[in-house]
Amino acid sequence: MMNEDDLKPMDRKLLLEYVRVTEAAAIACSRLIGSGRKEDADSLAVEAMRRAFDKVPARGTVVIGEGERDEAPMLYIGEKVGPKDPNLPEVDIAVDPLEGTNLCAHGKPGALAVMAIAHRGRLLNAPDTYMEKIAAGPEGVGVVSLEKSPAQNVRDLAEAKNKQPDEMVVVVLERPRHDQLVNDLRAAGASVRLISDGDVNPSVATGLPESGIDMFIGKGGAPEGVLAAAALRCLGGVFEGRLAFRNELERTRAIAMGMQEPDRLLRHEDLVRGNCFFVASGVTDGPMLPGIHRRGKWTVVSSLALRSDTGTIRRFETATMLEHLPVHD
Ligand code: FBP
Repeated sequence: MMNEDDLKPMDRKLLLEYVRVTEAAAIACSRLIGSGRKEDADSLAVEAMRRAFDKVPARGTVVIGEGERDEAPMLYIGEKVGPKDPNLPEVDIAVDPLEGTNLCAHGKPGALAVMAIAHRGRLLNAPDTYMEKIAAGPEGVGVVSLEKSPAQNVRDLAEAKNKQPDEMVVVVLERPRHDQLVNDLRAAGASVRLISDGDVNPSVATGLPESGIDMFIGKGGAPEGVLAAAALRCLGGVFEGRLAFRNELERTRAIAMGMQEPDRLLRHEDLVRGNCFFVASGVTDGPMLPGIHRRGKWTVVSSLALRSDTGTIRRFETATMLEHLPVHD
């Protein structure tokens, strides 16, 4: 249920500060693009992001991060980031310092440094399990839903977008668990684009008309689902999810995190309520953002910054000289 606090705008000055945070993570791990070293690339992104938070004038609590406190040294769930000044605003933060670790390690498209920021208590504390997901842009609001079959979603979204079903582009993670889903989507006429990893990128891209992606559907990580839901909230699109547990332990964990009905359909407002920011910086080229590029002595990083209270879409291109970055101190 919405309450008055949900209408409170976010402090807009913070937006650019958070862009610096994802920029730092993307630049740090870009050294290992194509290296085959996914864990190392992830660690570089995590460390750079963690350090960059120290300069943001807000008291953040990580609600989605690198894992539980005992399994992640940094950016673990519940970790406080930013200065300790009690006068600073409090926010909840969902982070994925390197979304698509394989993509980065193998030099494939779609790797990102990404985060979402909202007022305290407004982001779902999603456990690290799977989530069935569906995402679409503004035309999909009230149209697509996990309560419908994949084929029905294709047909209804096509009608809402004034297209034929065979003009619909749907992105799905290439996994054996999606074989039937892919058959159903193709039977409905959709052009299915299979990706190897990194579902935040295409999910968010459904809300960016120039991306050419109409819908994302399928099972992927639950934390990534909350990040995409925040972006689509800013873009006026739609996102629904349903947790898909691999075992009883994961379900018990979800209940311990406060989810009373862990198996129920999660509507957009169950995943993110009130106002939020979404910020991402490209690591490798993708449908939402270009990746990191070198231009002579400059390292160029591209970022996207979204605000739900104004619906603004900001794009930044930052050229920086590596020797000037604190990460290289
Ligand atoms: P990592 O960044 O942790 O490597 O995850 C990437 C990712 O592809 C997500 O985008 C996606 O939601 C999830 O993994 C899919 O999980 P799985 O590879 O187990 O199907």
